[in-house]
Amino acid sequence: MTTTRELLAGKVVVLVGGAGLLGRSLAQACAEQGASVVIADLDGSRAATACEQILPHLHGGSAHAESVDITSKESLQALIARVSSLEGRIDAVVNSAYPRNPRYGRKLEDVEYADFCENVNLHLGGYFLSTQQFAEHFRRQGHGQVVNVSSIYGVVAPRFEIYGGTPMTMPVEYAAIKSALLHLSRYFMRYYKGTSLRFNCISPGGILDGQPQAFTEAYARYSQSQGMLLPEDFGGTLVYLLSDFSKFVNGQNLIVDDGWST
Ligand SMILES: NC(=O)c1ccc[n+]([C@@H]2O[C@H](COP(=O)([O-])OP(=O)(O)OC[C@H]3O[C@@H](n4cnc5c(N)ncnc54)[C@H](O)[C@@H]3O)[C@@H](O)[C@H]2O)c1
Repeated sequence: MTTTRELLAGKVVVLVGGAGLLGRSLAQACAEQGASVVIADLDGSRAATACEQILPHLHGGSAHAESVDITSKESLQALIARVSSLEGRIDAVVNSAYPRNPRYGRKLEDVEYADFCENVNLHLGGYFLSTQQFAEHFRRQGHGQVVNVSSIYGVVAPRFEIYGGTPMTMPVEYAAIKSALLHLSRYFMRYYKGTSLRFNCISPGGILDGQPQAFTEAYARYSQSQGMLLPEDFGGTLVYLLSDFSKFVNGQNLIVDDGWST
């Protein structure tokens, strides 16, 4: 008789930005595969709500919510200390926060230098800090892995024509942040040579979230079959990366975009 075992049974996964559109869904995918999940977010009350929604999806693990600010070393260190004392271990962190200032998302010619710098600091700087703090914890612990959420816009140049007739654009900071994040993750991988620590990225395509129809239709023209994807379309890739099936996948970027960037 064969028995099936959840792919992440016994693992403790911290989802930073876990109360967000993508983070919530990634947390659910981990919970369904037996992981204990920690929903860590700047917005503690949204994290608590996201955590309650996860409870029916647990398969032997647990779920709890935490507050964290990825731009604060003290906040990240306090999170790591709390989770490791509560759970006894941390197997992975998934960085899926999306910090930005109120002026984020302007057209290229309207972006002020101070705003460019602030948004890069918050997002790329925050992912750096989270990766740095968790990596050192993982080195002391003897194992662990980081998955950074990048984007197709870290991989290919924007297609500005798809934003025509909408107030949307693809922010220049985003291109700088997400492309840098891919190489930053490789830097960490190489730095920790001689350990089992892993550093990978997932680069999602556009996620459906109430965008104008003109945009979703224009976006879909570059896709193979689906157009914009749903948050749950990325969970399987994360579960693979967090599972022992990808034990020697390191320094990679897994693009999940229905062929959009190819
Ligand atoms: N939505 C998309 O279409 C899309 C596509 C590709 C990649 N991504 C990437 O996916 C990730 C998540 O995006 P999303 O759409 O879920 O965003 P979101 O805005 O829905 O969620 C982001 C979460 O990050 C939290 N956050 C913000 N600042 C923080 C900080 N300083 N510390 C901790 N948490 C903080 C917010 O409270 C929020 O819950 C981002 O890296 C984003 O670039 C999104």
